[in-house]
Amino acid sequence: MAHEKLWGGRFSEPTDKFVEEFTASIDFDKRLYHQDIRGSIAHARMLGKQGIIPLEDVEAIVAGLQDILDKIEAGKFDFSVSLEDIHMNIEARLSQKIGEAGKRLHTGRSRNDQVALDTRLYLRDEIVEISAYLDMLIDSLIFQAEKNLEVIMPGYTHLQTAQPILFSHHMMAYVEMFRRDRGRMEDCLKRMNVLPLGAGALAGTTFPIDREHVAELLDFPEVTRNSLDSVSDRDFALEFMSSSSILMMHLSRFSEELILWSTSEFKFVELTDSFCTGSSIMPQKKNPDVPELVRGKTGRVYGNLMALLTVMKSLPLAYNKDMQEDKEPLFDTIDTVKGSLKIFADMIREMRVNAGNMRAAAAKGFSTATDVADYLVRKGMPFRDAHEVVGKTVAYCIEKQKDLPDLTMEEWQGFSAMIDEDIFDCITLEASVNARAATGGTALERVKAEIERAKAGR
Ligand code: ARG
Repeated sequence: MAHEKLWGGRFSEPTDKFVEEFTASIDFDKRLYHQDIRGSIAHARMLGKQGIIPLEDVEAIVAGLQDILDKIEAGKFDFSVSLEDIHMNIEARLSQKIGEAGKRLHTGRSRNDQVALDTRLYLRDEIVEISAYLDMLIDSLIFQAEKNLEVIMPGYTHLQTAQPILFSHHMMAYVEMFRRDRGRMEDCLKRMNVLPLGAGALAGTTFPIDREHVAELLDFPEVTRNSLDSVSDRDFALEFMSSSSILMMHLSRFSEELILWSTSEFKFVELTDSFCTGSSIMPQKKNPDVPELVRGKTGRVYGNLMALLTVMKSLPLAYNKDMQEDKEPLFDTIDTVKGSLKIFADMIREMRVNAGNMRAAAAKGFSTATDVADYLVRKGMPFRDAHEVVGKTVAYCIEKQKDLPDLTMEEWQGFSAMIDEDIFDCITLEASVNARAATGGTALERVKAEIERAKAGR
């Protein structure tokens, strides 16, 4: 070849070295090699079946590509920046190896539909992996919920003690979130699972290709219906990155709670040493680095979504080189989400729960005040009046430095003659928790039922 560039025909001067580096994507899109080769093999087989290229050429192409795949996987493939991206690196090497036949591979295809295909193939596999990591994390949460089934902790609103809840109920709240995340990933996968190859550069192709056949070879249930859209669409990446942002938001909230619970003020949980680090100056420190970093990495996942939305926001149809900027944020999102899920799944499984401290905290802060109000309502008092009575009782307790269970029968009756001996049974932590027995409540029986539901995948 007189020039290395696959598009060099109309050019008489070489590309500026810096322009070459600036426009190349090989450093980051080489990770699409497997998908690129898989797509090319399917395309070549279809071209052969349709009689567009000779069958001997198809065999040479397939063997050549398989060999290139082996070389890449063995780390024996030299990627060239002047060949710009993974697509041209592989195609150029194929032609070098097998000659004429290699040069026929790109018939009826463009890099524009090729890159759309490769990215979808890649993300499709990654989403399956991410869903598996989500399952691992859900398993760890259920493991902790079952292990600490009856542990009582304070439930908060405004980070002020609100009502006692089961720690297992708190873990199962995250199970709900991560199950929704998995659902969003599945939805995203459905819409992504459509073959764009065959759109050509933008308008389709003049060759009698069989797109449905390629779809079958590559396991796509459908083909795209508009060639312009096929090469311009990055919704699938955006959808994935939106779902990932929500997922990271969940991990970040969880991180925040774990960091708080690990403080010497709370001491609700202890993350095992293998998930923490020390300080170079303060010998007593054991820092919750993992949740802190996951909380921090949430920022870059949001940033990646914003970056791609902004890249896409004013692009005219169809392909524009701007779209090459989709890959780094997409790949970074995949890596960040996978890493965060994996480390969380392991960390949560090993986390130690300090039941005594949780219980002691739940007993403070008048966490059963609502139960007293509900008690009065059951005795016939309107709820607003009951709220007022208990408010006064709490104010009295604060003044006398007492908790609700410390009050004597005389003291109780001073606030309402409706209050009887049975008040004492109603304000225990267990009674408070187990009274919340409607579907979705924190009562032990309810939480057990939800754990069973989640385990059965319902
Ligand atoms: N490296 C390019 C990308 O990632 C491939 C598509 C290039 N197409 C083109 N006409 N320059 O978007």
